[in-house]
Amino acid sequence: MTEAPAGATILDGTALAAKVRESVRKDAEKLSATGRPPHLRVILLGSDPASQTYVAAKTKAARESGCTAETVRLPSGIAPGALLAEVRRGNTDEGVDGLLVQLPLEPGHDVRRIYDAIDPWKDVDGVHPENVGRLHQGRPRFTPCTPAGILALLDGGGVTIPGRRAVVLGRSDIVGKPVAALLTCRDATVTICHSKTPDLERVCSEAEILVAAVGRPGFVTRQHVRPGAAVVDVGVNRLAPGVAPPAHLMGTARVRRAFEEGRPVLVGDVDFDAVAPIAGWISPVPGGVGPLTVAMLLANTVLAARLSRERHRSEEMDPLTL
Ligand code: GUN
Repeated sequence: MTEAPAGATILDGTALAAKVRESVRKDAEKLSATGRPPHLRVILLGSDPASQTYVAAKTKAARESGCTAETVRLPSGIAPGALLAEVRRGNTDEGVDGLLVQLPLEPGHDVRRIYDAIDPWKDVDGVHPENVGRLHQGRPRFTPCTPAGILALLDGGGVTIPGRRAVVLGRSDIVGKPVAALLTCRDATVTICHSKTPDLERVCSEAEILVAAVGRPGFVTRQHVRPGAAVVDVGVNRLAPGVAPPAHLMGTARVRRAFEEGRPVLVGDVDFDAVAPIAGWISPVPGGVGPLTVAMLLANTVLAARLSRERHRSEEMDPLTL
């Protein structure tokens, strides 16, 4: 576990993810005993190394939790229509409970056409407009995995959400917007910030809960953080060997050593060493949001399998279908 230099309580994603995965394992076992294990299919386009790593982690975790999982690999340069056809194949395959397309897509693909195409009952990423709408109305079916993990981390750390001022840095469809919706549904007062937000430092420094999802290494410094705030770091920035990290991160021993030894290093959007002494809570990278994102995907896969069974059962009972 990462040590905070002072003060802040560490929001330990690894420990919490282990609990979620244990609960998933029990649910998957029950489903297996009465039919078959929940099945996750991941569609992976191209050969982006980070995506390959994430997909391998997802399918491995699924298998370890008593689900079955597969990756459908599509070659780089494939036509958008062929990717859509693969999504539709997953939609109609009764052996598939949870279906996701790993992001980012290659240039030339329209990610929102993929969101629209995924069967909303198999949409374990929670990106289909029907699932997005449900989430915003406070009646979620599949909550996007990273936002679900962020809320679990805050709850697990005992952070009060109702009535608090929250700032979300980043407005992506998969993290920024849905986490803002979840926090709003839990009665926080939420501001979403982005690249065109004026006076960003001041806005962030008023937050009692600060979620950083901008994809910029060490972007959030001490000046952005209100003392005592809960800071959740969603950034997963891999600094390549030999590429100098932002100067202010060289003060972090782990980052400096990796640079000097020519190794890659993973850093978040938050300058952890600078922020931890003044924050009330902080999530580390690695070991914070990342493991929970995977655990929440497994929880959604089990949910998809349960919903599928319930729907089949009610169809069988419905006299109109006889
Ligand atoms: N790439 C990075 N994060 C995610 C995610 O949550 N879902 C998908 N499908 N791709 C991602």
